[in-house]
Amino acid sequence: MNGTDRITLTDVTFRYDEAPEPALSGISAAVHPGEFVAVLGHNGSGKSTLAKLINALYLPTEGNVVVCGYDTRKEELVWEIRRRAGMIFQNPDNQIVATVVREDVAFGLENLGVPTDEMIPRIESALSTVRMNRFENSAPHTLSGGQKQRVAIAGILAMEPSVIIADEATAMLDPSGRKEVLETVRMLNRQKGITVVWITHFMEEAALADRVLVITGGKIQAEGAPREVFDRVEEMRKMHLDVPHMTALADQLRSEGMPLPSGIMTVDDMVREVSRLLCPSKSVT
Ligand SMILES: Nc1ncnc2c1ncn2[C@@H]1O[C@H](COP(=O)(O)OP(=O)(O)OP(=O)(O)O)[C@@H](O)[C@H]1O
Ligand SMILES: [Mg+2]
Repeated sequence: MNGTDRITLTDVTFRYDEAPEPALSGISAAVHPGEFVAVLGHNGSGKSTLAKLINALYLPTEGNVVVCGYDTRKEELVWEIRRRAGMIFQNPDNQIVATVVREDVAFGLENLGVPTDEMIPRIESALSTVRMNRFENSAPHTLSGGQKQRVAIAGILAMEPSVIIADEATAMLDPSGRKEVLETVRMLNRQKGITVVWITHFMEEAALADRVLVITGGKIQAEGAPREVFDRVEEMRKMHLDVPHMTALADQLRSEGMPLPSGIMTVDDMVREVSRLLCPSKSVT
């Protein structure tokens, strides 16, 4: 991780061919090295378009996208950008290309021309980091959705990325798969300093981010720490977005006259604040 691992979008507008309106307009944003940024927005707001601009799958119609010091407009840098900023998509089945897990993880390395003797330790290390080494000889179709997503993450990790962009990577998973994939990516962020752009519809996932960006109609409408952004409950609802359940409950209790402070997002926050009100002598600060 170093200073050039930043992602910077400057006055970015993107218009699909023949679309009457741009999908994104006037976006300026930065994601700092080692940050975990969640991107929220209702359907069609432009989240996937943003992810594809960062991964150089699309080029901005106007403005610039710079990933790890590389401008995505420079065609000769596209593969370097994709190696450094790996992307996980929603459907785990669409990301599996091989019939054996280890070959699937090898795929990206083969494309990069990494020599075989270097590939083997990289594959082993990537699979063990996502705790999928036991399955290295398994057929991907025998795995759960969460396990398939972890194999996809291993494929990215083997390429030694600085950034992971996850476009609703947990949307098709059951609650346990969702938890294992989110925990894997959070661990990579915390322990390896990998920068994460986490697009999600799940407010409880966004609550764990360092920072939240909210996109509506192709523009950034709100930005800040999750506690600050989610406390703007009415504004979020106007953008057809929810807030974490405990934030909504706190808002409702406050409107009934209960003097709860702002910034409640989790069950633990709620238990602490309600205990403080009901049994002040017992509360721990
Ligand atoms: N290939 C395409 N061609 C034309 N328009 C597109 C294309 N892909 C997306 N769009 C339009 O661009 C806008 C932004 O789409 P995008 O997929 O980025 O939204 P999103 O926030 O990811 O939505 P979702 O939550 O449904 O995944 C939408 O109006 C969408 O209809
Ligand atoms: Mg999308």
